[in-house]
Amino acid sequence: MSKLKAGFIGTGKKPDKPGVQGYGMAHRHAAAFRALKERVEIVAVADIKKENAEAFCELFEVPRSAIYIDYHDMLKREKLDLVSICTWPRLHAPMAIAAAEAKVRGIYCEKPMADSWGAARRMHEAAEANGVKLAFNHQRRYARPFRTARKLIDEGAVGTLERIEFACADLYDWGTHCFDLANYLNGERRAAWVLAQIDYREQNLVFGQPCENQGVAQWAWENGVAGLAFSGQGRAALPALMRAQGSEGMLEVGPMSPGEHPQPLRVRRFGEKAWNYVDCEGDGLHGSALIDRAIADFVACLLEGRACELESANALKASEVIFALYESSRRRGRVDLPLDIDDHPLAAMVESGALKPVPKAGV
Ligand SMILES: NC(=O)c1ccc[n+]([C@@H]2O[C@H](COP(=O)([O-])OP(=O)(O)OC[C@H]3O[C@@H](n4cnc5c(N)ncnc54)[C@H](O)[C@@H]3O)[C@@H](O)[C@H]2O)c1
Repeated sequence: MSKLKAGFIGTGKKPDKPGVQGYGMAHRHAAAFRALKERVEIVAVADIKKENAEAFCELFEVPRSAIYIDYHDMLKREKLDLVSICTWPRLHAPMAIAAAEAKVRGIYCEKPMADSWGAARRMHEAAEANGVKLAFNHQRRYARPFRTARKLIDEGAVGTLERIEFACADLYDWGTHCFDLANYLNGERRAAWVLAQIDYREQNLVFGQPCENQGVAQWAWENGVAGLAFSGQGRAALPALMRAQGSEGMLEVGPMSPGEHPQPLRVRRFGEKAWNYVDCEGDGLHGSALIDRAIADFVACLLEGRACELESANALKASEVIFALYESSRRRGRVDLPLDIDDHPLAAMVESGALKPVPKAGV
């Protein structure tokens, strides 16, 4: 079997200290592809910073002659099967659309999907129109605590699912993982409406995108399950990363009680005096192993012609709630879906002067 030829757009720089100014996610994608070396070969890279591309090529044994400054040239000249996109969010849509139009077979793009609802939709449409598998790195789905939580919910461990709550730093950059995980726990359903409020008094740019300082969002999925999310200071409202409550009990993933118990998943039926901790075989909620699993699944789905749960059809469901929650704050009211806007309401409110965050020094 011939190997899939992969190209990278954005090679990053392996950081001493990963943060919102650079994680070097391409290095993690490449390590995951390297683990699949019988099936995938990295043959070319594109980066506007040649030094990043050179260091990447040295580490992952890609010939320097296959470095491009302009990714369009790479897409035109190389016959790629796979493209990995590891740039900041505002570049995801133009790059994914160009790769889809170049008719590669699969695109593995970093999260969040895009910098506006219109851009997110257009990426999905371009992939569909060109028959290309477009997936996003929502790798936390592959953490055993979440896999087991979904299984427990499906088996009725908490009765009929009624509510999912989560708490995170912000509802866009972190939120994309959390909304995606909540959709996963609720069987990949779409939301019906969203009601939210955010506070953005101090500039907070995460990979170049504005993220609220504090927020709260309530929504309902089409199957009637309720969603509730807190961000920033408000995250203290929930003593876990995520909680799912049903008619007969509840479970929590990532309970915030350090030292109490090492297992990141616990379940309790109503009437029980104590939580039951579930063995997750030493798996946590973060880490490179999850990216390895996500990329391995994506490549297997591509080769076997199966749908992949990381695909844009699912990512779009999370993105719709995210942009709808900012739209709810802009409209000061409930937003019924499907979402009928094109922009990113938070970015637009900053640009128009409706929101005036105090600039953060050094950003
Ligand atoms: N899945 C996760 O858990 C996770 C964690 C951290 C970051 N991320 C996401 O990964 C993405 C990338 O972030 P990062 O921290 O790896 O970025 P980074 O800054 O480390 O690397 C981005 C690279 O893109 C290059 N680049 C910029 N413009 C380009 C262009 N026009 N053409 C080609 N290359 C270009 C830069 O030179 C740089 O080398 C972001 O969307 C971020 O949200 C995901």
